[in-house]
Amino acid sequence: MNNPKRYTITAALPYANGPLHIGHMAGVYIPADIYVRYLRLRNRDVAFVCGSDEHGAAITLKAKREGISPQEIVDEFHSINKDAFNAFGIDFDIYHRTSDPRHHETAQDYFRTLLEKGAFDVHSAEQYFDEEAQQFLADRYIMGTCPKCGHDNAYGDQCENCGSTLSPQELINPRSTLSGTKPVLKETSHWYLPLDKHEDWLRTWLESGEIDGVQLHDPSKWKKQVLGQCKSWIDGGLQPRAMTRDLDWGVPVPVAGADGKVLYVWLDAPIGYITATKVWAEQNGKDWKDYWQSDDTKLVHFLAKDNIVFHCIIFPVLLKTHGDYILPKNVPANEFLNLEGKKISTSRNWAVWLHEYLEDFPGKQDELRYVLNAIAPEFRDSEFTWADYQARVNNELVAVLGNFVNRTLVLTHKFFDGKVPDTTDAGHELTKSFGVDEAIASARREIEESIEAYRFRDGQNAMMGLARLGNKLLTETEPWKHAKTDLELAGHILNVCLQISANLAILAKPFLPNTAAKLAAMLQLEEQSWDMAGSADVIASGHQIEKAELLFSRIEDEAMDAQVEKLHQTIEDTPKSSHPPMKDLIAFEDFTKVDIRTATIIEAERVPKTDKLLKIQLDTGLDKRTVVSGIAEFYKPEDLPGIKVSVLLNLAPRKIRGVESQGMILMAEDADGKLAFVSPSEEVGNGSTVR
Ligand code: MF3
Ligand code: ZN
Repeated sequence: MNNPKRYTITAALPYANGPLHIGHMAGVYIPADIYVRYLRLRNRDVAFVCGSDEHGAAITLKAKREGISPQEIVDEFHSINKDAFNAFGIDFDIYHRTSDPRHHETAQDYFRTLLEKGAFDVHSAEQYFDEEAQQFLADRYIMGTCPKCGHDNAYGDQCENCGSTLSPQELINPRSTLSGTKPVLKETSHWYLPLDKHEDWLRTWLESGEIDGVQLHDPSKWKKQVLGQCKSWIDGGLQPRAMTRDLDWGVPVPVAGADGKVLYVWLDAPIGYITATKVWAEQNGKDWKDYWQSDDTKLVHFLAKDNIVFHCIIFPVLLKTHGDYILPKNVPANEFLNLEGKKISTSRNWAVWLHEYLEDFPGKQDELRYVLNAIAPEFRDSEFTWADYQARVNNELVAVLGNFVNRTLVLTHKFFDGKVPDTTDAGHELTKSFGVDEAIASARREIEESIEAYRFRDGQNAMMGLARLGNKLLTETEPWKHAKTDLELAGHILNVCLQISANLAILAKPFLPNTAAKLAAMLQLEEQSWDMAGSADVIASGHQIEKAELLFSRIEDEAMDAQVEKLHQTIEDTPKSSHPPMKDLIAFEDFTKVDIRTATIIEAERVPKTDKLLKIQLDTGLDKRTVVSGIAEFYKPEDLPGIKVSVLLNLAPRKIRGVESQGMILMAEDADGKLAFVSPSEEVGNGSTVR
């Protein structure tokens, strides 16, 4: 297949309301950077764009809480995050930002075109308004009780306890986070994107890669979980989505009379990719349109799974409706990275922050890049632990790659004054059983194939496999011994090791840019084009190399203990989640309205397309009924049959994700959100009353 003429590679714009952690790196930025470094090594024409996502209610909320302006917040984190990316060698062509006037202009122009194309329906709807603060409330500004699981602190858009997507008007006892008062409903109008009308072409495009019979991408190259997530969104029925918000921070809606309204952050942010490309193109004498409006450009979005719907459904609708734009050729989204057995959580400070890592491990950026790529959640969630970090650095980078290169260079200096020795026929007899030539060629090929298929872990493994072979060759042929009796033979072995090292200096570039540069400098490799790699003939005999310097050093236990302690410490320092305070007193009659019974679970299964919900069949003694319960995180469906529970029998039936739930299983929830059944302590029959 022909290579595309050029590439536009985007990495999700991180919100500029907090620092970056290892989850961001493993999920998005390291894979994107590896891909781009590789493309550049292959001399492909690439625009690699990113920047800060600086709008949205999460940022205004944080600003309000801290008593500063949103601009101050985003200024601070834009520069912190930009510096962190730089330090880790994430090599964007441009790191732009969405509060920049240039972006406002681009986003507004885009919106105007969409208006002209009739992309939106304007609806007036009732929305919550805070009378004290005199403003409409964005979804995130409203909290209340989740209608699905009863959690008290659900947001207007989502319940973080049961994972349900909500709309503010579903919340029970809504309150404004601005004033704490109960908001009132008031009419407001917004521009809605009728996603439902786009279902058909979206489905065909995603599943077959075709639009109007034109093949735009190859779905067999897409990750299954990405297509799966899209399919379940579409199967679940797409809903019109408001593309504007009543908020005073964002890109103003460019329509007369729309004062106080801004573009929805998920409309403006992806357009940020386009703005960034425009600014970069201008600064570099390029035409930005080539990168967004030309069929021979390959557009690839890098992001984590929580962003899939925005990049595979909403943004494509915006691109196609506009009319001038290409659609992504692939969206190789990653899953999530966990940390020491728990979900990474910014609010609980359960994270390894990049800026702190840089302070604690100066100069060890490649070590973190290596480990995060080695464990990247490419197909399923994965986990970072400090013990694993230490083991991979010590046993792989130090003991294999570093050790091999160091021994090779030290021996070359010791026996050959740092000049690359000659190969010999006798030497060839000795080394040929190691299959070095084929291994070098196949390492290059495997790295290419893996990276082109977005399997960056495999690519890095192939690179390390070559170092491993080199290490084995050295250890087994012991050139330091031959040097005493047959210097030429020792020279041959070292020549082969130097060829392997030179290949590594090139093949490691996408993964470990600093290490590759150091190695190339030690080998005095002036040119390191990708095409030099793949043969055992990269450096000429007689070529003078530099003195060996260690590429990596061991990580000691103390450093790891300190990190683990720090992690647990910060969690202790953050205010402990506490039990909710007692609710208002009620009369006994109120309590008697509640009909709670004992019951036994007969069977349970997951509610499709949800992470947390189980559909549970109960024997209540009175009847058999179905209850939907948000406990899938804590219980596997197959473990549930036979468990005794308490059930709120006379709760009005509710539809949850299309399933009618008749009642509610009572769960005890501790301060950390852990759930447990409330079961009778002795055997009592199903249907026994609880009072
Ligand atoms: N800021 C979003 C997040 O961190 C990602 C935005 S990606 C873009 O989840 F497409 F909108 F730019
Ligand atoms: Zn909930």
